[in-house]
Amino acid sequence: MQEISLNILDIVENSVHAGAGKVSILVMSDTDAGTLTVTVTDDGGGMTAEEVERAFDPFYTTGGSKRVGLGLPLLKESAELTGGAVKIESEPGAGTRLTAVFNKRHLDCPPLGDVIATLKTLLVGYPGVEFHYEHHVGRERVVLDTEALSQENGPGFRADIQAVCRVLDSLENLLVHFKEGEMDFKSILMRQGGIKETSSNFNDLERRK
Ligand SMILES: Nc1ncnc2c1ncn2[C@@H]1O[C@H](COP(=O)(O)OP(=O)(O)O)[C@@H](O)[C@H]1O
Ligand SMILES: [Mg+2]
Repeated sequence: MQEISLNILDIVENSVHAGAGKVSILVMSDTDAGTLTVTVTDDGGGMTAEEVERAFDPFYTTGGSKRVGLGLPLLKESAELTGGAVKIESEPGAGTRLTAVFNKRHLDCPPLGDVIATLKTLLVGYPGVEFHYEHHVGRERVVLDTEALSQENGPGFRADIQAVCRVLDSLENLLVHFKEGEMDFKSILMRQGGIKETSSNFNDLERRK
């Protein structure tokens, strides 16, 4: 079972390889619906309808020397296993948007994992690409935008690995506060123990569905 943050790394690297200058990443945890939705939008080379269809084929890749491209097939399998889905909208010359929905209440739903590590890899590894990251949990949200950061901190910001990592560490501290909202009834069950509490919490979640 792979962490979703590693799927995000793979999808965004596809965007970078497709020549994107700007990639937008949205992670949305709907605490009422129990879904985690990841949307990655790029302004790269895009795909034809036929290429989009083949993108989910494990033996399709434009990655050069490799003979298999497993990023998208594995993501699709992982999302569908939870009752979710993956959708790609793309236009040649304009860009691509990928949307993956996971059902967090399904036992096979992988954890989101270390999105901060994914962002560090991307921001440090591709200093020429602008990234916009948004993370929503319920009604709370945080935003990180490299264009805005470069404006605030000067054009040398992206080359300053330590500065980039400091910003991401403070983002991580903000995300920790979101964790409460991420909890499903299983963790409420573990924290509160008592059957009475558990059933009332569970009914709460059921009612909100
Ligand atoms: N954002 C994107 N823009 C353009 N083409 C893409 C994008 N994402 C995926 N593709 C195409 O789909 C193929 C399969 O992607 P993937 O399953 O991740 O395998 P890999 O990246 O290893 O080739 C890529 O080789 C590429 O041709
Ligand atoms: Mg890939």
